[in-house]
Amino acid sequence: MAITATGPSSEVDLFSDDSVRDPYGRYRELRDAGPAVYLEKNQAWAVTRFQGVREVLRDWERFTSEKGVAMNEAMNAANAGSIVASDPPHHTQLRKVLSERLSPGAIAKLTGQISTQADALVATLVERGDFDAVQDLAAFFPISVVADLIGLPDEGREKLLDWGNAVFDGFGPDNPRTAEAMPKIGEMWAYVGEVATRDRLAPGSMGLAVYEAADRGEIDPESCIPLMGGYVAAGMDTTINAIGTGVQLLAEHPDQWQVLKADPSLIRSLGNEILRYDSPVQMFARTATDDQEIEGQTVPAGDRVLAVYGSANRDERKWDDADVFDVARNPIDHLGLGFGVHRCAGAALARLEIEAIFASLVERVTAIEIEGEPVRQLNNTVRGLKSLPVSVS
Ligand code: HEM
Repeated sequence: MAITATGPSSEVDLFSDDSVRDPYGRYRELRDAGPAVYLEKNQAWAVTRFQGVREVLRDWERFTSEKGVAMNEAMNAANAGSIVASDPPHHTQLRKVLSERLSPGAIAKLTGQISTQADALVATLVERGDFDAVQDLAAFFPISVVADLIGLPDEGREKLLDWGNAVFDGFGPDNPRTAEAMPKIGEMWAYVGEVATRDRLAPGSMGLAVYEAADRGEIDPESCIPLMGGYVAAGMDTTINAIGTGVQLLAEHPDQWQVLKADPSLIRSLGNEILRYDSPVQMFARTATDDQEIEGQTVPAGDRVLAVYGSANRDERKWDDADVFDVARNPIDHLGLGFGVHRCAGAALARLEIEAIFASLVERVTAIEIEGEPVRQLNNTVRGLKSLPVSVS
């Protein structure tokens, strides 16, 4: 760790394979080095303490999303004007269209249907006894839920997962993962452009509601496809990782599984603790609009700032026993779903999906055992597993 003219700097590359595989030691190092530490290799200021991350996410006028939330220029150019990469008032208009369909009230109507689907899936897997908790459980569910909500046809859905993963890689710096992702992101946009048309979207779907908002003049017609594409990508790996990681954590902490079995009302607390302990979305960038202070550390105007939610959620300055997985903790103010104007638009849906799966597991399963080596999916933005062989009794 060195001190530059403006502040502490570090040689850590938060997007190297080693960092992505196990970032928590590096996060601690960066938190201890200062409220904002310049990453020489990533050319951005890492903000890793809870208070600083919340401040960056809250103050959109000081830390804009409009210059892009990715770490590379190609992705920022491609996403210009989209919901994640805009500030109010443009952002407010786009957000309103999604909020109508994704608000807690609107999502509550789906509770029965999603719980029934989740329970049917869990029942089938419990019957089998052995399954892959990512491929067979976590991945199956969000794909169908998100694609159905948007109203996409069945054709091509099998590719959504790979494309969604590519979009999150695309937010990284110019590294091999980003390079490999770019053509896939192009394929995803071509697919969404082809199938998310008025004549192919399901009647009553959220996709059609987006077009209706454009007809009413609430958003630009050109915003329709990006809004749907962004929604597809945002709704997949995120929830899948939360469910996959949750099963892993519960299998590795049988005492916590017993706490949950004894008190199933802790399901909501469990969901919050999974998102805190091993956040599915680890970080997004912002840009300092002027010279800005973060807890006393100046970040020069125009510099990129990396808000590391995954580190804030393990900050020992904020959380007691931050590295302990505790299903009864109920960390309602974790930053795993972001904070401020860009706080996850799909939070209510994500919570519903996660709670439906775990409620069903708690009811139907006595014990979960890991049966093979978990395989981590290395990604520039999201954190989770590709495979987790388990058996349940
Ligand atoms: C556990 C699952 C999920 C996690 C951890 C998660 C996490 C996040 C985070 C951290 C952000 C903030 C981005 C920023 O600060 O710039 C965000 C934004 C967003 N999320 Fe989620 N998300 C999840 C599920 C979903 C789902 C299921 C959907 C939709 C179906 C969704 C749609 C969105 C959208 C549209 C945004 C952009 C909001 C905006 O810029 O105003 N997310 N999400």
